[in-house]
Amino acid sequence: MDTKYVEARAYPTIGIILLGGVSDEINRLPLHTTAGIAYTGLNNEIYVKTDLYISKNKKGIVNGKDIDVNSERSPFRVIDKYKHEILMRAGEDDDMNISFISENVNVLSGSSDAGAAAIGICIESIFEYNINIFTFENDLQKISESAGRSLYGGLTINHANGKESLTDHILDADAFDDYVIVGCHFSDNRQPSDVIHKNIIKHPEYPERVKNSEKKAKELEKLAQERNIKKIFELAENDTDDYHRLLNDVGVHIITGEMKNFIERVKELKNNFWNAYIVTGGTNVFVAVEKKNMNKVADEAKNFNAKPVFLKVAGPPEVISRN
Ligand code: MEV
Repeated sequence: MDTKYVEARAYPTIGIILLGGVSDEINRLPLHTTAGIAYTGLNNEIYVKTDLYISKNKKGIVNGKDIDVNSERSPFRVIDKYKHEILMRAGEDDDMNISFISENVNVLSGSSDAGAAAIGICIESIFEYNINIFTFENDLQKISESAGRSLYGGLTINHANGKESLTDHILDADAFDDYVIVGCHFSDNRQPSDVIHKNIIKHPEYPERVKNSEKKAKELEKLAQERNIKKIFELAENDTDDYHRLLNDVGVHIITGEMKNFIERVKELKNNFWNAYIVTGGTNVFVAVEKKNMNKVADEAKNFNAKPVFLKVAGPPEVISRN
């Protein structure tokens, strides 16, 4: 019989300094420094839930579908590394397997970070303090390049250069309490993020973006120290403009005509109240506003046939239960 071992919940993420370009398809180390936040719904109703269990056969299920256990981004790249230690701690023999079931609950985008972090936190909870934190994040990046954002929650900077990568948590989720991010969802069709990673590096200005990411990260650290949330989101908006300009030039068009029209309207609304928008790799426009203005953005989104969802910055993953 399968034995449930540990269940965890982790939160998806949004880029603040957006990630474009990874070292290779296995290690997936970002080629430059990036930053991001973890998010959930106002009642914590957006998350990825993962169960790790001991089983006779090795099985991975994501959103009800069996995954190819040998695929490049398979969570088994991490689970297998720690399998012996986990079985030993559970008092099981090495002929048993570790399997998992993962489910995205209400996630708009950024689910793979949360999926990787949920697996990570399940494993970490079994190891307690014996895991090597310096290499563990790099293990999880094999599943998702920006897993560190979800692993630490709040606002994080991932310092990276394609060879090394380490995430630094710079602001807790509660620093964002006065703000809501209105996630405006346009369509369920999205390009795989590898299309972005493979193409953005071809842009002649890419080396400049790599250099600038260091400057932006320094600026972000300063803003985090000052807890200047508006300026943090404004930095993200500028980065969104830069990122999608480069992507458009190399033929990767994430921002559709409808999203573009909505963004123009969001810019006009700046005359009425403060806001800042972010577009990552999916067909969502995330609009940060002070709480009192969230309904104004939601009403506008509906005029553009987008579905608005109210979001807040989330903390780190949580272990829900453990045998
Ligand atoms: C995927 O690795 C990264 C993007 O979602 C951008 C970001 O959130 O930084 C495409």
